[in-house]
Amino acid sequence: AGRGGDVHAAWLPPEAFAPLGSRRVLVRGDGVLVDTVFDEVERACARHGGRADRTAGDRAVDLVLALRDAGPLPAAATALARAAGADGPLGGEGFALARAEGVTVVLADAPAGLLYGLFHLVRLGAAAFEGDHPVRRHAPAMALRMLDHWDNVDVHPVMGQVERGYAGGSIFWRAGAARRDLDRVRAYGRLLAACGVNAISVNNVNVHATEARLLTDRLGDVAELADALRPYGVRVHLSVTFAAPVVLGGLPTADPVDPAVRAWWAAATRRVYARIPDFGGYVVKADSEGQPGPFTYGRDHADGANLLAEALAPFGGVVHWRAFVYNHRQDWRDRSTDRARAAYDHFAPLDGRFRDNVVVQAKFGPIDFQPREPVSPVLAAMPATRLAVEFQVTQEYTGQQQHVCYLAPCWSEALTFAPWGPGGPTVADVAAGSGPGPAAGGGLAAVANVGDDPFWTGHPLAQANLYAYGRLAWDPGLDPVAVLDEWIDLTFPASTVGDPALARETLHAVMDDSWRTYERYTAPLGVGFMVSPARHHYGPDVDGYEYSRWGTYHFADRDGVGVDRTRATGTGFTGQYPPPWSQVYESLSDCPDELLLFFHHVPYGHVLRSGSTVIQHIYDTHFAGVQQVAGMRQRWRRLAGVIDPAVHARVAERLEEQLRCAIEWRDQVNTYFFRKSGVPDVRGRTIH
Ligand code: GCU
Repeated sequence: AGRGGDVHAAWLPPEAFAPLGSRRVLVRGDGVLVDTVFDEVERACARHGGRADRTAGDRAVDLVLALRDAGPLPAAATALARAAGADGPLGGEGFALARAEGVTVVLADAPAGLLYGLFHLVRLGAAAFEGDHPVRRHAPAMALRMLDHWDNVDVHPVMGQVERGYAGGSIFWRAGAARRDLDRVRAYGRLLAACGVNAISVNNVNVHATEARLLTDRLGDVAELADALRPYGVRVHLSVTFAAPVVLGGLPTADPVDPAVRAWWAAATRRVYARIPDFGGYVVKADSEGQPGPFTYGRDHADGANLLAEALAPFGGVVHWRAFVYNHRQDWRDRSTDRARAAYDHFAPLDGRFRDNVVVQAKFGPIDFQPREPVSPVLAAMPATRLAVEFQVTQEYTGQQQHVCYLAPCWSEALTFAPWGPGGPTVADVAAGSGPGPAAGGGLAAVANVGDDPFWTGHPLAQANLYAYGRLAWDPGLDPVAVLDEWIDLTFPASTVGDPALARETLHAVMDDSWRTYERYTAPLGVGFMVSPARHHYGPDVDGYEYSRWGTYHFADRDGVGVDRTRATGTGFTGQYPPPWSQVYESLSDCPDELLLFFHHVPYGHVLRSGSTVIQHIYDTHFAGVQQVAGMRQRWRRLAGVIDPAVHARVAERLEEQLRCAIEWRDQVNTYFFRKSGVPDVRGRTIH
């Protein structure tokens, strides 16, 4: 079975270690993570002809990876080490890299830094051993870089083993039990460390009966996962049910102010830490889509979150309390309720009331991981609270890993958005704790996209989303195209590819703009949804949610389309933003085109900032989107015989499905709006 058996190596193929593995390497320091670094180096050297040492002798070295307090280094490395450390501490996960006189040095204060330094070297490849490198310090922007697995232990009758999972079964659980072979989990931890993720929640936020017990009598399973992930610096967190004191503890209530309830959580948490000393904490979906919460007892989310925070505090744990709270039993006739308002309405008034080990975790947009949403205003409304931004790496609403949809540009836009106006703090600053809020920051969280599929993610190119998520959590300023280059270099090392230049060019052509392509052929101008309820959000159904209870409507009629969220005539949602956005979004002429129908209901003839009418824009983008997918399919054919045939075949097969589905989207959306509006396409193309 080795490290994951026949599983695809993703961004850590053995060839990626060739530059490092052909060197004379010295690793200095102690601890589990330094052992991991040494194991990695030793394995690479065994394969590629280098030499790995843990004790400094007189032998010449090309590379030194050392903890700063690990004792004397070879002469050549000492001066560099001094220079690298001159600017003060490197932090718990940071490292410094330099090269002079033929020696590359990676220095860290703590073992995790050395691990991240090692994978940085792998990323640099041969360049790490060429010329001189001035000292460069690296540290993550976010302390918490987390993945949330929506994995169930038991197979759920509707959602299956993994809720919104598109890559097979869970890598942790199978049919009611923990998987016994943890090689796959170890291989996963390694991939996560190599992209910078350091925390993982191992079960679904919708906590069903069996999964609730992971906190108590099934804790041993969680401890095993923690053991498997620890060598890669990944901490384990658990989704818990707020009703645990009742359903597990037999108490009559889960009221957060009840002393017996507080004592129950304290004792349960103490047992968790006795078993898993570096346990990360709890993730909670409360009073959301039917999950239990403090509302039952007339308490609010601060009372609820603080209850768990109090239990975790003595051990340094955090509670991720999700802000995804809204009325999921709305009457579609009720125009006064606006789901977009919900997170702000529930949470902003509680700012200042959360304990400092509470992280309020808000989806990046106000609705639900749509391909295009404005940034959630709650992220600018809680300056006294640690906030985490939640993304969805799993492609629930972005093609379900059947479609190529490289999401880093979407996340990058959200992270670099400046809620208080251009030049001000960004969303990334808020999450990192370098904005107006508490210095600790809540970091990033994202719903994971891997399963037991041999390619990890179903669609092999969806691996890039997982990689890019980790990299953006480490450094939200990275350019998504540059991150894709990193991923290409690692995943398709030149030595394994027939024509590396063609492979790179094709992957960029297929992936760079794929998120915007997906946006073009699906719901227009930020209006969202129009997805099939029957098929779990896959494929088009323009009115699929229009008369539902979910609060996700487009309000198309014969005259126009869109949701009026203005203060002047609509739901007032625009007022949840600070200026200038409260004005920009309110104004029909200033509102960005891509969000127009999120904020305004307009006639089909309304002229966009682009100069096109809304109806013509709908037709044009849907024809263009399909054409782009056809182009992607065409280009991909050129890689046959150039890259790994299994990867090529899997992607080729999915591009067929993407094209079929994009055509279906185009024709349903165009026909729908033609029938509603009666306005023909000025270019006279076929609308059915
Ligand atoms: C979406 C998704 C659900 C999930 C929910 C959540 O609505 O469809 O499966 O439970 O988000 O984020 O909690």
